[in-house]
Amino acid sequence: MKTTCAIHCLASAAIAAVLAVSPSARAKDQTTLKDAYKGAFLVGAALNDSQFDESDARAAALVKEQFNAISPEDCLKWQQLHPKPGVYDFSRADRYVEFGLKNGMFIVGHNLVWHNETPKWVFEDDKGNPADRETLLARMRDHILTVVGRYKGKINGWDVVNEALSYDGSMTKTPWERIIGDDYVLKAYQFAHEADPNAQLYYNEFYYYHEFSRQSPAKRDAAIALVRNLQSHGVHITAIGLQGHYGLETPTLEEVDETITMFAKLGVKVSVTEMDIDVLPGVKENDFAEQPMHIPLNATIDPYTAGLPDSLQQRLAKRYADLFKVFLKHRDVMQRVSFWGVTDGSSWLNMYPVYGRTNYPLLFDRSYNPKPAFDAVISVARTAPADR
Ligand code: GLA
Repeated sequence: MKTTCAIHCLASAAIAAVLAVSPSARAKDQTTLKDAYKGAFLVGAALNDSQFDESDARAAALVKEQFNAISPEDCLKWQQLHPKPGVYDFSRADRYVEFGLKNGMFIVGHNLVWHNETPKWVFEDDKGNPADRETLLARMRDHILTVVGRYKGKINGWDVVNEALSYDGSMTKTPWERIIGDDYVLKAYQFAHEADPNAQLYYNEFYYYHEFSRQSPAKRDAAIALVRNLQSHGVHITAIGLQGHYGLETPTLEEVDETITMFAKLGVKVSVTEMDIDVLPGVKENDFAEQPMHIPLNATIDPYTAGLPDSLQQRLAKRYADLFKVFLKHRDVMQRVSFWGVTDGSSWLNMYPVYGRTNYPLLFDRSYNPKPAFDAVISVARTAPADR
């Protein structure tokens, strides 16, 4: 108990000291994220084309320096890879995988079965009516066998199904679910295993808690039931992904902590797969809409175009530190923490939920420099090395 307190107090003091140092005063020989968390978990980033193509040379250099795992922002999604029946385009995905192999990184495949960013033809017959169950299952199997088969032995693990659940704990009524039925999830994992028996298989989901369901986290419980059901059919799920698109206040640390604990009881690993922290005002009207809102911007909805105020920069750093303390506490089951993006400038949160805002969700700023949040995250790892 005393040791825990001592470590905790030391950690808080060290973080406070780091937060007080201005970015320009930081040591040049700063340790990297991947080294700081070595032995605890992998630290990854989702890459866009200019990063894995290295046309954005500074971002590519930063990725090589800081991260040991990569995810693809878009290039492995169905609509990019398989836009028309029988037509596959692997050019971008091949370059993504090549970048990871060349740099000895853990390569994540994202994703195989999702209702978004999947072309309409997948769910339709040639008259534009809904396809039947057998047709859709055959398309799913062909897609999974082709894509996973191509990268067999190269892509280490796959987000097989992305976002199948609703807040009330029911299966979301996606075209996959409506046409095939609830067992589309099981089928997807069976096909993925058939395609590469050695690949790790993940279930990836956002917000296991939500403000409306906080008193009864039905979605989290549904994810547990979903994984148990897969396990009961002999599917080996390696990890559950918490996307980790978080806010400055929500979810609470207790919610994240408890969710990881409950998932770990299933005998699976846990990963934070798409971490970022939104610092801009919420736009309720567009909560969870598929398309961003295109509206005139003003200082109320887009307040930090000239830079993030220092007070908020410190809050962001503290929030990151607090979350990484939780992740580190669970290092026995935590496989990976991946950020959704590399620098603030390339984050999707500048485009969503409102298009064209200036957001600051990541650890590196628009000039590719580490932010106070970076120092805070490193500092958490430094203060708890003893039991690693
Ligand atoms: C979801 C998806 C990702 C990506 C992010 C935001 O969480 O899983 O593929 O689209 O949203 O860009």
